[in-house]
Amino acid sequence: MGQAPGDIKASEITPESVWLDRRTFLKAAGIAAVSALVPRLARAGGADDKPTSFDDITHYNNFYEFGTDKLSPSREAPKYLKARPWSVRVEGLVAKPKTWDIDEVVKRFPAEERVYHLRCVEAWSAVVPWSGFPLSALLKKAEPKSKAKYVAFQTLLDPKQMPGQNASVLPWPYVEGLRLDEAMHPLTMLATGLYGKPLPAQDGAPIRLVVPWKYGFKSIKSIVKVMLVERQPPTTWNIAAPNEYGFYSNVNPAVDHPRWSQKTERRLGDLFRHPTLPFNGYETQVAGLYKGMDLAKDF
Ligand code: MTE
Repeated sequence: MGQAPGDIKASEITPESVWLDRRTFLKAAGIAAVSALVPRLARAGGADDKPTSFDDITHYNNFYEFGTDKLSPSREAPKYLKARPWSVRVEGLVAKPKTWDIDEVVKRFPAEERVYHLRCVEAWSAVVPWSGFPLSALLKKAEPKSKAKYVAFQTLLDPKQMPGQNASVLPWPYVEGLRLDEAMHPLTMLATGLYGKPLPAQDGAPIRLVVPWKYGFKSIKSIVKVMLVERQPPTTWNIAAPNEYGFYSNVNPAVDHPRWSQKTERRLGDLFRHPTLPFNGYETQVAGLYKGMDLAKDF
């Protein structure tokens, strides 16, 4: 199974400095330029970095609040989910708790464009041109207290807007968590758009988390609450199946899911499989966060 991409010569790999310049330029040029200008490596490794089509990104979704198959979210979420008015409450172990109106968030934290690889735990993947801002910016505004060690996130709980919550396939609301240093990492973002448009309902409107080195389920959608806490918070998939989904869930081709291999992935829109990279290709940026940990144990 699987086909490795051809070896890429060192000369073909975009050095990070050039990539960063490109990113700055892209910000100025606007998202329309993304697919033309970012053909290659934002990250170490090999695979093609051409952004996945808007159509694929918005019609192959996991959003259990709108059904458990991949097509229900694009069909149902736009009918039910109202992205305005919307507020996000930041609270817990912080000096300055606050309820943010989403329009205030969008205004206060200018969106930047970032093309990230998203690797779903189900072994499919996408390359997504997100717009958003670093989660750290929002957290810093709240002034976390020294006791705060983790960040807990919550999706909206409202079966009228999220009819899938009438079924008990998962405990509701959907919750996720990060260690504080993971949450503060510059790669961790809150996305409010993709392909330069506001986030479609099925992708987690109006605001969702994106943690590119972790399996997709960590990237919780339609967030209403961000809580700074002392202890490791519960996470939905870990509650549902603790032997299959750990708290960390860093992308790791060396640790198989109990029911399938994590060595390769199928990019939406591609015929062939790509090898999955440690930390989804962001190893240089994030491996330091896990120094001394056994990631087969803390999966
Ligand atoms: N967030 C909520 N609230 N509910 C969900 O079911 N699914 C997760 C994650 N965030 C999910 C969620 C999973 S399993 C994945 S792979 C990603 O969203 C998928 O994001 P996408 O549909 O934008 O590709």
